[in-house]
Amino acid sequence: MPRPNIQFHDLHPTQADFRHEVLSGLRHRPRRIPPKFFYDERGSRLFDAITETADYYPTRAEKEILETRAAEIAQRIGTGSLLVEPGGGSCAKVRILLGGLQPVAYVPMDISRDHLHAAAQELAAEFPWLEVHAAHADFTQQMAVPPSAPEGPRVAFFPGSSIGNFDPEAAVGFIAAVAELVGPGGFLLIGVDLRKDKAVLDAAYDDAAGATAAFNLNLLARMNRELDADFDLEAWAHRAGYNEQAGRVEMHLVSLRDQMVNVAGEAFGFTAGETIHTENSYKYHVDEFQELARRAGMDSAGAWTDRRGLFSVHLLRNMATANP
Ligand code: AVJ
Repeated sequence: MPRPNIQFHDLHPTQADFRHEVLSGLRHRPRRIPPKFFYDERGSRLFDAITETADYYPTRAEKEILETRAAEIAQRIGTGSLLVEPGGGSCAKVRILLGGLQPVAYVPMDISRDHLHAAAQELAAEFPWLEVHAAHADFTQQMAVPPSAPEGPRVAFFPGSSIGNFDPEAAVGFIAAVAELVGPGGFLLIGVDLRKDKAVLDAAYDDAAGATAAFNLNLLARMNRELDADFDLEAWAHRAGYNEQAGRVEMHLVSLRDQMVNVAGEAFGFTAGETIHTENSYKYHVDEFQELARRAGMDSAGAWTDRRGLFSVHLLRNMATANP
């Protein structure tokens, strides 16, 4: 049996960050905690559970698009590229693309170290011909390819509508950073959830199985575990809903009574009904997203939706010409 071809790289995501960002977010009004902190080991597993609920459609819709369009996408990109996936900790959807794309190497990059290592190891064993460079990094802080990864025309893969966590201005900044990472002529293949009926979105972010509620509430449990906090999980509730005007789903944790909570040695008072804003998930029309990408210096090289018109996948290209 061929040996899996895999290397691990620690790109030193700036540490002590969880404590620092939680404290400054709880001092802020309205209170907020960045969604990247959902993904400790338990949170990553709870997210996987969300994707299997009947109400959360994006994962299935995106897979349908990738599966039906894989050959077409590979034809537009070509083989032999260096395939980079920021936030690709579970190495799941990339499997659909590998056969057609035949990249020289795959670089999954993720903040959740153990989740990334386990998933990358499994992938490397499953695709022995593939060179894998797993990079432990927070892509919102730094986006770099490990120096020992091979050269090739660069393609970034950013599925799942994770772009929705950025507000539109920050999304432009992120796409511009990806454009720089892939260089002139480089591609970005990105999944983007579409604007749609409020009832469908409300159900997707407050699923009947309770997976999203458990995922949101895990943030409190994580603070109890890692920051010596004393949140009473019975005194908090999950709230999510689509704000049509803003084009985003908002997620909050709601305090069910007046209460004091200690976090990392600091005391915080919450009134009944007060919330901690934990996530935004922006939705875009196809042409609206193409316009946003153009502002970041990337042009559309293709856009596809699923049969039900719920989700989109865009292929974007950095149209800049190389500097001599
Ligand atoms: C991983 C950010 C794309 O916004 O749909 C799912 C996270 N939050 N259910 C999303 C999430 C609640 C998800 N993203």
